[in-house]
Order: sequence, then C-alpha cells, then structure tokens
Amino acid sequence: MFLRSVGITAAVLLSSYGTHAAFSSSTPNVMYYWGQNSAGGGSTQSTLASYCNSGIADALIMSFLYVFNVGGLPSINFSNACQTTFSGTNLLTCSAIGKDIETCQSKGVKIILSLGGASGSYGFSSDEQGQTFAQTIWDMFGGGSSTYRPFGDSVIDGIDLDIEGGPSTGYIAFVKALRSKFSSNFLIGAAPQCPFPDAILGTVLDGVDLDFVNVQFYNNYCSAVGNSFNYETWANWAQNTSPNKDVKVYFTVPGSSTAAGSGYTPMSTIQAIVPQLRSQYPGTFGGVSVWDASQAWNNDQFASQLYSLVKGSGGSGSTNVTNTKATASSTTTAMATATSQSATGISFSSYTTNTSTATSSIATATSTSVSGTCGVAGQACSAEGRYVCTTGTSYAVCVYGKWSVSSCPSSTQCIPTTDGASIYCGYSFGSNTCSAVSARDVLHATLNKGGAYPKPYKVSQVEAQFIVESASTDEFKAVINAHRTNVKPFTKSVTIEFKSPSNVKFTNTEAGTIRQVGTSVRIQANNYKFNQSMAIVVAVKGTVSKGVFVAPNPSSLRIK
Ligand SMILES: *[C@@H]1O[C@H](CO)[C@@H](O)[C@H](O)[C@H]1NC(C)=O
Ligand SMILES: *[C@@H]1O[C@H](CO)[C@@H](O)[C@H](O)[C@H]1NC(C)=O
Ligand SMILES: *[C@@H]1O[C@H](CO)[C@@H](O)[C@H](O)[C@H]1NC(C)=O
Ligand SMILES: *[C@@H]1O[C@H](CO)[C@@H](O)[C@H](O)[C@H]1NC(C)=O
Repeated sequence: MFLRSVGITAAVLLSSYGTHAAFSSSTPNVMYYWGQNSAGGGSTQSTLASYCNSGIADALIMSFLYVFNVGGLPSINFSNACQTTFSGTNLLTCSAIGKDIETCQSKGVKIILSLGGASGSYGFSSDEQGQTFAQTIWDMFGGGSSTYRPFGDSVIDGIDLDIEGGPSTGYIAFVKALRSKFSSNFLIGAAPQCPFPDAILGTVLDGVDLDFVNVQFYNNYCSAVGNSFNYETWANWAQNTSPNKDVKVYFTVPGSSTAAGSGYTPMSTIQAIVPQLRSQYPGTFGGVSVWDASQAWNNDQFASQLYSLVKGSGGSGSTNVTNTKATASSTTTAMATATSQSATGISFSSYTTNTSTATSSIATATSTSVSGTCGVAGQACSAEGRYVCTTGTSYAVCVYGKWSVSSCPSSTQCIPTTDGASIYCGYSFGSNTCSAVSARDVLHATLNKGGAYPKPYKVSQVEAQFIVESASTDEFKAVINAHRTNVKPFTKSVTIEFKSPSNVKFTNTEAGTIRQVGTSVRIQANNYKFNQSMAIVVAVKGTVSKGVFVAPNPSSLRIK
C-alpha cells in the first residue's frame, strides 16, 4: 500500500445509504483504508466522517503513520485531509480528523491507525524500542497524554501494521505492550502481502495474538485474478499456526483498477469468491478490506455492491462460480495508471493487459478430462497456442490440436503468469501435478490446492518478488516488488542488477533507465516520489527470442 501525493480537485460526493454500518466482532465486515487519496487527480478523497456516514463501511483504517523510531517525532501523512503541523515540527495536527473520529465512533464505525506503508522510514532494532514506541502510541493516540496529539482528545480503536520493509525485530514486543495499555477490545492487526509467509511480518504473525490480518491480494502472483490465489494458505495459518485461532483473515483488494500495479479483482469475481470464503472458512473469514476508499468510491457501484455482498444480501450465493478471466477483460488493467500508485511512481504509458484469454467454468472444467487441461504429450487439445504447466518441471503448448511438451531449464519449474493466461519458467516452491494444474486452471474452484509458485529472491538487506504479469512467445511484462529487510530505507536511486537468461531481453522500464549488455541487466530506478521508502515496485518489460520466458537466476541479483 502506497503513499501518494495530494490530489487536486473536487471532493467525492458520498451517497448516504441510510443503513447503519457498524463493526462486528462476529460477522464479516467491510474495512477501507483511507488517508492516502490514492485515486488522486480529480477524484479527491472525502473526509473521514463522510465515509463513516455512508452506511457502507464498518471500519476506516487511517493511513499512514509512516516514519517512526528513526529519531525525533513520528510522522503521519493523510494527503489532502490534513496539512497543518505543530509549530516547530513536521508532525501534522489534524483537529478535523479528530472530530471525525468521534463522529465515526458514535456510529459504531471503528477507526484504526495504520503504521508503515511502502514509503517512509521505520523499524526497530530491539524489543525495548518496540515497547517504547507502544508508549508513544498510547500517549499520542490512546488514553495517555502528550504535547503532540494529532487528533486531540480522540482515541483510536486499533492499530494496523502495514510493515512493508525493515526487520521483524521489536513488533511482537510492540503488540504485547499495546495490549497491556489499551482496553481488551482494542483491535490490533497486520497487513502482510499475500506470498506466504510474509517476508517481514511472518514471524510477527506467528508470535503474537492479532485480531485481524488484511492480506494484500494484489501486486503479486497470489491475487484472486491469477491461478495461484492463496486465501486457503492464510486460512490454514489462522486455524493452525496463529497464536489467536480466532484471528480474522480479510480478503484485501484494490478498490479499482488504478489502485494497484496488478491484481485488481472485478466485482463479479469478488461476488463469486466471497460466498465461498464465507461458507468454507466461517470462523476465519473476516470480510473484505479495500485499498483505498478514494478508489472504491470512484469505481461505479463497487462500494455499495461490496457492502451488500459482505453483509449477506448480495453475491452469487452459489459455489458454482464462473471463471472470471472473461469478465476481467472488461476492466482491462492499464499499467500506466496502475504503477503510478507504486512507491516509485514508475509507470508505462501504454501498457495494457488483456486477461480475457482463458474462459471456463468450474462445472465444465471439473468434468473436462485431465488430458485436456494438463498437457499430456500427443493428446488432443482445443486451445490452440495455449501454454500450460504439466506434471513436474515441464510445460506444454497446444499446437495443431495436440499438446507438445518441453522442459524448463534446470533448477526452474513451470509457473503460471499472474494474468492466468500463460506460463513461464522460474525459481519456485511447490510442485506441479496433473491434478493441481487442472484445478488451478479453474481460478477459485480450489482456492489454491497446490502447484508451483515463485520463490522470493533474498539478497543483501532486501527481499524481492519477481512477478511475471504476462508472457507470450515474443514478449513479457514483469514487476520487481522489493522490500528492505533492515531499517535503512531505499534512497533516491535504486540499482537493480541481474543476469538475464539468454533468450530474454529486458528493454523497458519507466522507473528510470534499463540497460542490457549481453546477459547483464542494470536498472537504475528513481525513487523521487518519496526519496526514502521501505519498498519499491519496478515494472519492467522486454522480449523473448525463443522458447518461453525464464526468470533471472536468484544468485545473480543485486539490489542497492
Ligand atoms: C504526504 O505525502 C505526499 C507524498 O509523498 C506528499 O506529496 C505530501 O506533501 C505529504 N503531505 C504532507 C502534508 O506532508
Ligand atoms: C481482449 O481480448 C478479447 C478476446 O481475444 C478481444 O475481443 C478484446 O477486444 C481484447 N480487448 C482489448 C482491450 O485488447
Ligand atoms: C453446481 O454444478 C453442479 C454440476 O453442474 C450441479 O450438479 C450443482 O447442482 C450446482 N450447484 C449449484 C448450487 O448450482
Ligand atoms: C526527491 O528528490 C528529487 C531530486 O532531488 C526532488 O526533485 C523531489 O522533489 C524529492 N521528492 C520528495 C518527495 O521530497
């Protein structure tokens, strides 16, 4: 989730539903991130209270408190909603938001403060620092007292850890110290990215009681629009590993196609998925969280449809869902707008993804013979030109009505691209079996029952996901989603170097410059939007000369 610059013009008019939204600890909720005005431009976010008054939001998550424990006072940023600072400091004082918090709370809408985000600079190097910061939160936003209380006397209802970079150190101590200060109904949650386990929050999630987990099912291979949607993995974690077995896992989605670099899940897909999550994981499914309010309210009927769906009066109500790649085409994602939400503000101006390639329904797919979906050499196929993963490390392409099978290069395995339309060879966890592949070909029939998925790249002080958005026999589009693993943020310019497989040429990035000499690739990415950030997202594209796209070898990667 990313900070974004102040938007420009008119405020959104929020329709009031007349219904009474309120946070529930026993039935699913709809929560919105608010504060960053991620839609920006002419679609500026409205006040916090107006979303609470809309009747279709149960909690608002104020984002972000994005600089902390790096010396001096923490920093908050709420884009156009607050611009005044305490004199002599950079800390915002937001009395209007303070009043809105009380308005929201009077309606039963919870107000949660999110710490972290992609930009900024934060992290602890000891448990003591975590405990000290819990005291700071109590004094500035809780029941304590401080010269600097950005929201005056109002007291927040909870904390969300959207920790996208830095070490895991100190967060468990921080949460325990918060619990000891705040009342027992104070909500504490975290917002990991969907790859499991989360690079930074993983050990924190395993080590301390949380009330909710807002898994970010976007900007990654595990979004709900690809073939590797992994809600089930998170539900298993909640039920078997989490110290709090009642922790609620929220299906966290972008509010519109411009809210994320990839993984926008259209309402038709959400309507198919939510009833399944509710019925399969009744004690675990917490509802839906959205990044962010400004995007959702500028996305047609998204917010109202979502509310009636999650609160039980909408949705398909059937577990027979239609594969949504067809519907996804009507909401073609423009990387141009999408990546402008990224930490680095990097974008391609004419970079569109058409995800309409494969269509099928669970009913037909489960009755289709395995040979049709699994790519067994020599067997008949109908989807001419379609690439699929097969058992083991091989892939198959449908040529003249028959599957033709090839192997991925050594150490790599066939992985589906995130648009669900093709495959590539990469470094992975898991393994493909015929049944896994045929099942995964049918989006959320299985909510991810296996198969290969990409391994994170771990390099000095950085962990990165290399996400292959789409790939064909000629070209590819990918995203490098990198996170600091120490306290030091990325600075103005980030250098990314790796060796490219010989059949792949990296040609473009609007992140800055990209140069490939032989197989050596060097990206110089500008991080001017923030100049210091704990995470960056760099979109790249290029060409494939023969065979399929092969991911760079992890041992060749350097990021600094
Ligand atoms: C909030 O962050 C954005 C993006 O970095 C920046 O442009 C804006 O000036 C910040 N707002 C305040 C009030 O500091
Ligand atoms: C996407 O693909 C479908 C099916 O091939 C095609 O009808 C449609 O025009 C394409 N849309 C775009 C925006 O390219
Ligand atoms: C789902 O599809 C199966 C197979 O077509 C059918 O037997 C079943 O009745 C359907 N269930 C619902 C709830 O529509
Ligand atoms: C980051 O640095 C660049 C170049 O020095 C500058 O133009 C830009 O305004 C800075 N951005 C922020 C958010 O301070």
